[in-house]
Amino acid sequence: MNTHEYHVTTDSPEATRALGRALGRMLRGGEILGLSGDLGSGKTCFVHGLAEGLEVGRNSWVRSPTFTLINEYQGRLSLVHVDLFRVAQGPEMEDLHLEEYFASGCVCVVEWFERLDAVGVEEFMGVTFRYVSEERRALRFAAHGTRYGEMIAALHGADLETSGPRVSSTRRDDG
Ligand SMILES: Nc1ncnc2c1ncn2[C@@H]1O[C@H](COP(=O)(O)OP(=O)(O)OP(=O)(O)O)[C@@H](O)[C@H]1O
Ligand SMILES: [Mg+2]
Repeated sequence: MNTHEYHVTTDSPEATRALGRALGRMLRGGEILGLSGDLGSGKTCFVHGLAEGLEVGRNSWVRSPTFTLINEYQGRLSLVHVDLFRVAQGPEMEDLHLEEYFASGCVCVVEWFERLDAVGVEEFMGVTFRYVSEERRALRFAAHGTRYGEMIAALHGADLETSGPRVSSTRRDDG
């Protein structure tokens, strides 16, 4: 399988949000986005950008995902936002029936995606966040499946002029 990767660093929360927004604009429905990375590394910040790219109205963000495991927002597509931080692997995870969301045609974005290994999702966009310094984060997009590879190619071409401070990137395609 081809794994296409895109590495980028952001120097502000706005730049991270702009990347989410750029990806959000590309989505067609049914995509799975798996976010991993330490506490405070910018996952939720990225999801806010994703919601903007999906034209979710700001007043839809009534509840903090910190206090609920699964939130659904309506934009030009439905966005399902899952945060697995507090979910134990095993029965508690299975009770969420995430596979039904994944098959629903909604865009599904999952924080702490690495906790999901039991579900066996094969095609998804992985996004790994790393804290570099107070205002800087390193993001690594990894496409699993061709549809996600196309998104990575499009992310390279996306106009991130509006993203504020520098967004630098490198590209690595390995067959
Ligand atoms: N370049 C950056 N990108 C994203 N967030 C940044 C950046 N620089 C600083 N921040 C700050 O880091 C914090 C990121 O918080 P966020 O809730 O998005 O993290 P998270 O990965 O979702 O954490 P958790 O695992 O607790 O859910 C915010 O307070 C944000 O303002
Ligand atoms: Mg979060």
